[in-house]
Amino acid sequence: MTATGSVTVIRNGPVRVLAIDNPPVNGLGAAVRKALTEELATAFADADVEAIVIAGEGRMFCAGADIREFGKEPPPDAPALPDLIHTVEASTKPVVAAIHGVAAGGGLELALGCHARVAASDARVGLPEVTLGIIPGAGGTQRLPRLIGAEAALELIVSGKLIPATQAHRLGLLDELTDGDVIDAAIAHAKTISTPRRTSDGDIEAEGSIFDAVRKKFAKKARGFEAPDAAIEAVRAATELSTQEGFAKEREIFLRLLNSDQARALRHVFFAEREVAKVPDIPKETRSAEIRRAGIVGCGTMGGGIAMSFADAGIPVSILESDDAALKRGMETIRASYASSVAKGRLSTTEMDARVNRIQGTLEASELSDADIVVEAVFESMEVKKDVVRRLDEICKDDAILATNTSTLDVNEIAAATQRPEKVVGTHFFSPAHIMKLMENVRGEKTSKETVATIMKLSKRLGKVGVLVGVCDGFVGNRMLYAYRRQADFLIEEGALPQQVDQALYEFGLPMGPFAMADLAGLDIGWAIRKRQAPTRPQELRYSPIADRICEMGRFGQKTGAGWYRYEEGSRTPIPDPEIEKLIDNVSAELGFERRTIDDAEIVRRCLYPLINEGAKLLEEGIALRPSDIDIVWIYGYGFPRYRGGPMFYADTVGVDSIYEFMVKLHEEQGAWGKPAALLEKLATEGTGFEDYADRA
Ligand code: 3HC
Repeated sequence: MTATGSVTVIRNGPVRVLAIDNPPVNGLGAAVRKALTEELATAFADADVEAIVIAGEGRMFCAGADIREFGKEPPPDAPALPDLIHTVEASTKPVVAAIHGVAAGGGLELALGCHARVAASDARVGLPEVTLGIIPGAGGTQRLPRLIGAEAALELIVSGKLIPATQAHRLGLLDELTDGDVIDAAIAHAKTISTPRRTSDGDIEAEGSIFDAVRKKFAKKARGFEAPDAAIEAVRAATELSTQEGFAKEREIFLRLLNSDQARALRHVFFAEREVAKVPDIPKETRSAEIRRAGIVGCGTMGGGIAMSFADAGIPVSILESDDAALKRGMETIRASYASSVAKGRLSTTEMDARVNRIQGTLEASELSDADIVVEAVFESMEVKKDVVRRLDEICKDDAILATNTSTLDVNEIAAATQRPEKVVGTHFFSPAHIMKLMENVRGEKTSKETVATIMKLSKRLGKVGVLVGVCDGFVGNRMLYAYRRQADFLIEEGALPQQVDQALYEFGLPMGPFAMADLAGLDIGWAIRKRQAPTRPQELRYSPIADRICEMGRFGQKTGAGWYRYEEGSRTPIPDPEIEKLIDNVSAELGFERRTIDDAEIVRRCLYPLINEGAKLLEEGIALRPSDIDIVWIYGYGFPRYRGGPMFYADTVGVDSIYEFMVKLHEEQGAWGKPAALLEKLATEGTGFEDYADRA
């Protein structure tokens, strides 16, 4: 990798202004560190220079270390960032940071090494290293507590959040805010400093209880995630050790985490999140349509949630329903949902009113005629959906996009029911649609590039992460989910209990296990689908009857107070139910399984390896564009732990060869359910993994 970037002297008076110039985010790669060290030495040696301002060219001050340098061999060239920052801090001439845009990570650490910080009032600052599975490694955990106190520093470092400059100013992190030219303000500020104040000077103290409180606060989120605890340890060191010992401790922890599986996984996710918006055959310049108005068909849970997503993004939307009572109910649910956000203090009443006013309920299809996009969110039936798009095709203006929110059906067949298949696309929102950030955007055979470009842009505007996928039953997320679910059902026939399977997957880092999730989603929909599929189900393949039996008992999950678990009135806490355990025992006996002890590691392997195998098939078939897109689907759609990088990245950390061997055995036991993907076999034979596959693609 060639190090890029430079540092330019942009003003050359008694206060010399050095600007980091390394687009797009002024990352502190080796070339920048070297250039800044040299320019500082020149300024220190120049008797005409009385003070120095460090600024950033372009969009921002600096987004921190160049993440692309991490984990590379050989390690990047000197000077290391901590040494550069020590040089800044040790200067006998005042050095002031002029912050605009963003100062993040190493960028903020550089600013903390300066003797004062002046910022544009709309800037944002923070130490997001924890979100990359590491801790600030260039003095941040030692200087920030000394500047703003251990408690505030802990919160900022452990949360990894960027905060507005106004808040940072109140905390004492920034010395001055300006609405004018930040460099002028920093120069003026530099002239007022007679003796440089060094942030790392002095000792600080803190009550031990603040560390426990923060640990507790992040414990649920941080389940199995190492960086938050490591950050707490580093800040604690700032309160217990001398400055020099503290710096050494911070560096030791930073280097320990830098190449951990979790840090590699989180770097992978960071780049995957940016890659996912790029579609190889659709250049950035591709024309996209302007979405000024939207229409939704169907005012149920999905339709209402999708309408709210549009309204939240400032796009007026009409919802069409055929039944007056259903429309009234749907609109009431929307209002109640906004009102609950107001009650929780997440939304102002004025904003609630503005959003509610953007949503018009209607019984007249003609009201959708001027919409730029209409999303159908009606009952999941091919006939019903085809009927709806056929009607929309007649009513909507010629250039309107017709989107279907199907989660399973063939988008090509739906498109063929219209005269504009190039304008038909799938937009698979996840429930609840106004909260979940994932959108699987389904590209049909005839969907035009312009339509794809429009939908991908729209996802971003709606605050969602759009992942482009191809047509198949269940698309990426649900197709992989089927493989996972199936094994969970088989495991309980063989000896596990729902609560044990759920606990093992929860411990792995998923927000909930498959049985608690099924109870939350409702068991009746899956039951209806299974009944429909029963006549065509391959008889030679293993089938678990337990879920059907539970539905036959009238237990449809949380909404009926019982499903795989039972629920107390008004509570969502799953309680293991002896009745279900009896049912499971009976089914095991009927099927001839001698129940055995199944450990948590086996549960994780049994559920996740077939899921990964299905992901490999999706890549082979071109349904998913790249392994990292699948990872994004699972992180945003199903809460797969970010620090494991998503299922395909996780597969590489486990070793594709061992997953392949596992699937070969499962194939022997379960036939088609376990058939290894050809791609999995290929990667296992080569001794490579999905990352190599992505690099080659
Ligand atoms: N290193 C390398 N590349 C980076 C980068 C970084 N620190 N930050 C952003 N980029 C790249 C992105 O990958 C993207 O590349 P692409 O155009 O090829 O896809 C490009 O810069 C633009 O980034 P965004 O699309 O994210 O731009 P936004 O304007 O939306 O967001 C931002 C700007 C808020 C600064 C966001 O980029 C961000 O959060 N960056 C990471 C900040 C961070 O985590 N810093 C800590 C780094 S670790 C560190 O400093 C260690 C130290 O303690 C020793």
